[in-house]
Amino acid sequence: MRMVGKVLWGRGLLALAALLAVSSAASAARAPLTANAIWANPAARAAATRKGAPIFARTCASCHGADGKGAPGAFVPDLTDDRWLYGGDDIDTFIMRASDIEQTIFHGIRAGDKKGRNWPEMPARGVGHSLEPDEISAATEYVLKLSGQPYDAAQIPAGKEAFEGEGGCYDCHTVQGWGDTAIGSADLTRPKTWLYGSDRAAIAASVNQGRGGVSPAFADKLTPAEVRALSVYVLSLAKTRTYI
Ligand code: HEC
Ligand code: HEC
Repeated sequence: MRMVGKVLWGRGLLALAALLAVSSAASAARAPLTANAIWANPAARAAATRKGAPIFARTCASCHGADGKGAPGAFVPDLTDDRWLYGGDDIDTFIMRASDIEQTIFHGIRAGDKKGRNWPEMPARGVGHSLEPDEISAATEYVLKLSGQPYDAAQIPAGKEAFEGEGGCYDCHTVQGWGDTAIGSADLTRPKTWLYGSDRAAIAASVNQGRGGVSPAFADKLTPAEVRALSVYVLSLAKTRTYI
């Protein structure tokens, strides 16, 4: 009797194992393609782009514009240009992937989500006088120079000193002004990509009051499938697939 029980028990385990194997194979077959795999597959990419477009219109266009180029007063990067404010994970190739955009959509930028891109804001240098007004004016001229715009040459030595010293600008924007896509700091040599305006007054305002734009987190507002489609759609808008 005991023998029979053991044999039955053994068979039961085998049957259970077989059942588990079948169901895990089935769930692997059901597992959705990742955003990067969708991007890599032309048919899946086309379908996701079609699915993502109306979600973008509904969810993102209020700030990013119906065409992805931005809405007045929203201070957003142009999603269709050849520059990303935030770079991708792939620091070997600089290739921007759908998964990088997926991360931004899920968790946002400075949106209070723990997994988001919560990089330091640009500090306000006019507050508490970490820079005096004449230093802010000089730093502003220096940024005008870096960005290829007309500047007051007399202020450049003091401006360079503020940029590379007290102002700490080089720390986040690099000495050359190139910015850092790891922290979303502006490329000060490419004023067309700036969010807050590129004239003297706008630069001085950025330095005086600081900057820190927010893109909301959508983890609890959109489904993972919607976010995957959206990230493929957004990548399809961009002129460049690298972020440098
Ligand atoms: C702690 C890092 C940090 C420091 C220090 C810093 N910045 Fe920034 N800066 C940023 C970030 C991040 C942004 C982008 C903010 C955003 O996207 O809202 C930015 C944006 C800017 C902008 C606006 C660009 C645009 O898109 O319109 C200017 C101009 C600028 N910085 C100049 C400076 C100057 C000059 C200094 C030194 C006085 C300085 N920054 C110091 C991080 C920094
Ligand atoms: C309330 C306005 C707002 C909404 C809605 C919004 N965003 Fe943003 N988004 C921003 C701002 C502001 C920034 C720039 C943040 C900064 O200054 O660092 C940004 C930045 C981004 C970036 C980074 C671009 C780059 O150059 O690296 C991506 C990608 C992005 N948003 C995608 C989306 C998508 C997709 C949606 C819709 C699901 C969306 N955003 C909805 C305001 C918004």
